[in-house]
Amino acid sequence: MINKTKWMAICTFWVILLVSAEGKLVQEVPSGSGWNWGGSKFGRAPILERFSWKTMDFAYPDESSRQLAIARGDFVPENALPVGIEIWRNKLFVTIPRWRGGIPATLNYISLDTNLGGSPKLTPWPNWVQNVAGSCGNSLTTVYRIHADQCDRLWVLDTGTIGIGNTTQQACPYTLNIFDLTTDKILRQYRLRPDDINQNTFIANIAVDLGTGGCDDAFAYMSDELGYGLIVYSWAQNKSWRVTHSFFMPDPLAGDYNIGGLNFQWGEEGIFGMSLSGLKRDGFRTLYFHPLSSNREFAVSTRILRNEQLALDSYHDFEVLPDGGSLFHRTSSVIDENDVQFFNLIDQNAVGCWNSLLPYSPVNHAVVARHDEALIFPADVKVNRGVLWIISDRMPVFLISTLNYNDVNFRVLCVPVREAIAGTACENAQWNYNNNRLWWDRK
Ligand SMILES: *[C@@H]1O[C@H](CO)[C@@H](O)[C@H](O)[C@H]1NC(C)=O
Ligand SMILES: *[C@@H]1O[C@H](CO)[C@@H](O)[C@H](O)[C@H]1NC(C)=O
Repeated sequence: MINKTKWMAICTFWVILLVSAEGKLVQEVPSGSGWNWGGSKFGRAPILERFSWKTMDFAYPDESSRQLAIARGDFVPENALPVGIEIWRNKLFVTIPRWRGGIPATLNYISLDTNLGGSPKLTPWPNWVQNVAGSCGNSLTTVYRIHADQCDRLWVLDTGTIGIGNTTQQACPYTLNIFDLTTDKILRQYRLRPDDINQNTFIANIAVDLGTGGCDDAFAYMSDELGYGLIVYSWAQNKSWRVTHSFFMPDPLAGDYNIGGLNFQWGEEGIFGMSLSGLKRDGFRTLYFHPLSSNREFAVSTRILRNEQLALDSYHDFEVLPDGGSLFHRTSSVIDENDVQFFNLIDQNAVGCWNSLLPYSPVNHAVVARHDEALIFPADVKVNRGVLWIISDRMPVFLISTLNYNDVNFRVLCVPVREAIAGTACENAQWNYNNNRLWWDRK
């Protein structure tokens, strides 16, 4: 039996009155397809649809200022597509790129204490003033993926762009902003160097690597999806460098997509999804990365990336993992503290897992969530305190066709990891396979 109350409690973390919970449970549809998923069992856990929206809305100070913003075109509800999430304490951050006009804020949050379900309005974070488009150096223009680290810092890459595809204007330079989540103040701002980018650069994703040296031993890795590079930023050196490798490129045979009833080609999309393993015995992590138009995952040690000289000349230190077959496009992945990787399977309306302590083979992969309506384009996945969070947004329909705004288009869903992986190949994490590498020993 589905125990909705338990899910609500686990997905909420804070003391709540469950009586007023509005979230509903979505049952996954186990229909096997694609790569030899047959070797792996599907998860059976229902997923909590924590929030859902037909269109996004913003928490203006009052209704008259909201109406004024709509009248002026400063807020066009149909243009707001949520693409990224992050969870920190009682905040769920939601990012909205400025692809079309009328986006009042690109970085926003929802209070998880006060919003148990329904369609909450977004509150700009850290405030409205720091969300003004084109106010370079003072404000955020377009933010995609964000990352909250263990030192209560939020890493926010502002692409500085307005528009998408051939409408893109570079209003401000690519700038990495690092905020203190406990004070809502900016700690550091770093403009990418001209040499970090090229004329095709499009960077939507960031991974953050804390090493053995604590909060100052931090690096950010930013994947240049259309310029085919990886930009490394060292917090300690306050310096960046660009890494190139042919593994960052798309596979020309893997650029055809069928999602949400649409067929389209994204043939040029290279390195996008990234996830970092736990610290290995040598004190470094493994960065896994995946060109979007590819069925392959690749890996490289952060020992290489963190060293500017090594990163320039270490072709053979980049590893190829076995071909994933077809229907294996992904844009987002994350590795939890038990070294289980979760990733979106955008062609399958699904989220999958791989027990990364075991070989990268079909039997060690599983689907943990699949739903042909609620999970159309699961744009971002995160794990926080043992809970898997997913945002789905029907992005291809927004970009290529038109969303039906009478329908629910955007959803934030969650499921406890333990339940999601129960009965799948991902359940047997290091407790069974790697007893001498418990995660607290690696700190
Ligand atoms: C931009 O791209 C769209 C769709 O790909 C196309 O219809 C449009 O004509 C293009 N506009 C310009 C100015 O190239
Ligand atoms: C980091 O470097 C940037 C530009 O290179 C500079 O503007 C900024 O002040 C530096 N920050 C720190 C904390 O050193």
